[in-house]
Amino acid sequence: MKAAVFHKPGDISVDNVPDPAILDPRDVILKVTATAICGSDLHILSGAVPQKEELIMGHEFMGIVEEVGSEIKNLKKGDRVVVPFPIACGKCFFCTHEASPACENSNFKHYGPNGDMMDQKGGALFGYTDLYGGYSGGQAEYVRVPYADISPRVIPDHLSDEQALFLTDIFPTGWSSIDWADLKGGETVAIFGSGPVGLMAQKAAWLNGAGRVIAIDPLDYRLDKAKAVNKVETLNPHKVDVINAIREMTDGRGADVCIDAVGFEPERNLMDKVKATINFEKGSIKVLEMCFEAVRRMGTVSIMGVYGSPYDNFPLFRIFDKGITIKQGQAPVLNYIDKLISLVSENKVVLDDIITHTIPLTEAEYGYKIFNEKEDDCVKVVLKP
Ligand SMILES: NC(=O)c1ccc[n+]([C@@H]2O[C@H](COP(=O)([O-])OP(=O)(O)OC[C@H]3O[C@@H](n4cnc5c(N)ncnc54)[C@H](O)[C@@H]3O)[C@@H](O)[C@H]2O)c1
Ligand SMILES: [Zn+2]
Ligand SMILES: [Zn+2]
Repeated sequence: MKAAVFHKPGDISVDNVPDPAILDPRDVILKVTATAICGSDLHILSGAVPQKEELIMGHEFMGIVEEVGSEIKNLKKGDRVVVPFPIACGKCFFCTHEASPACENSNFKHYGPNGDMMDQKGGALFGYTDLYGGYSGGQAEYVRVPYADISPRVIPDHLSDEQALFLTDIFPTGWSSIDWADLKGGETVAIFGSGPVGLMAQKAAWLNGAGRVIAIDPLDYRLDKAKAVNKVETLNPHKVDVINAIREMTDGRGADVCIDAVGFEPERNLMDKVKATINFEKGSIKVLEMCFEAVRRMGTVSIMGVYGSPYDNFPLFRIFDKGITIKQGQAPVLNYIDKLISLVSENKVVLDDIITHTIPLTEAEYGYKIFNEKEDDCVKVVLKP
C-alpha cells in the first residue's frame, strides 16, 4: 500500500510499504478514506520531536472497517468510523479514570510515570514516534487500529468524511482547552494561534458560552479565516501590542481565559534562537509567557500546544502572584467524542469550513510543504488515499 513515511527531519515521502495485518484479537484493519496533517506532525518533520526509525505518519484519520479481530463485537466489516488519536486499552487505571492519554498498556517500551524528554512518556499515539509507541499512523491506504473495542466510533451516514474527520483530534483538542477553563458564560477568551487547533478552540469557546473570542496570530490570512468561519475579533502581534490590546478590551484586567494553541515552535527571531541554544531549550515559550501576561488575575491558561524540554526563566512569580490556573496535555478525546459527534451530527457546529486543501495521499509531500511553510494560504490539508 501507499503511505506517507517519515525518513529523517525534513524528509517525508509517499512510499510503498507492506499492508498492515491483524496482530491481536482486539485489532481492526481500517481502509482509510480521509486523513489530515496536524501541527503536531510538523514537530516531527522539523526534528524537534525526535524520531530515528522510519515511521508511517498520521494520527487524524477515518475510514471503513476492512477486517476485524476475533474479539471485536462492536464493529463489523463495512462500518465507517473515526478513530481518536490516543491509543488506549480501556482497562487500565488511567483508562478507567477518564485519563486515556495516560494509558498504562498501549506504550510498551516507553511508558512511565516520569514524563522524561527521551524515555518515560504517556500512552501511545498513532504515527507519533517510537517514544509514543511506534505505531504506524493513518496517512496510508490502510491502518491497524489496536484496542478497537474501545476507541473507534461509527459515524452517521449523513455526515461526509470532511464533516467528521476532525473528531479524531483537533475538535476534541480545542474542546478540551475550553472545557478545562470551565466557562460559566460571558467570558472573554483569548486564543493564541489561529491554526487548526486555535480555530477549533474558537468554535468550542462560542459553544460553551464565551462572550467574546479573540484570535491572535502573526499571519493575516489565518486571522481572516478565523473571522470568516468563527466571527471572532483578531489581533496580529506584528501590528499591535497584544497584551495591551487585550487589557484595553477588558477594562484593564486581561482575558478570563487564555489558550496556547501554538506550542514550542512559534514564529521566532534570531534572539529567540540564540536564547534557546544557550539554555539548551527546544524552541521557545514566548507564546506561553504572553498567555500568562494576557490572562486576568485568577484566570485560566489552557496549554494545547506541545512543549518539549525544560525551560529557564519560567515566570512562576507571575503565575503565583496572579493566581493563574494552568491545565495542559494531550486531549482526552474519549471523554468528549460521543457528545461532539452529536454536536456535529445535529449541525450545531461545522468543522470542515477550515479545510483549504483536499489532495490525494500521493501528494502528501506537497501537503506537508504548504502546511509547514504556510504557503498558498494553507490552513488544513486533508489527504484522500
Ligand atoms: N494537546 C493536544 O492534544 C494537541 C492536539 C493537536 C495539536 N496539538 C498542538 O497544538 C499546536 C497547534 O497545532 P496546529 O495544528 O493548529 O498547528 P499550526 O502550526 O498550523 O498552528 C500554529 C499557529 O500559531 C501561529 N503562531 C506562531 N507564532 C505565534 C505567536 N507568537 N503568537 C500567536 N500565534 C503564533 C502560527 O502562525 C500558526 O497559525 C501544535 O503545537 C500541536 O502540536 C496538541
Ligand atoms: Zn493532531
Ligand atoms: Zn489503558
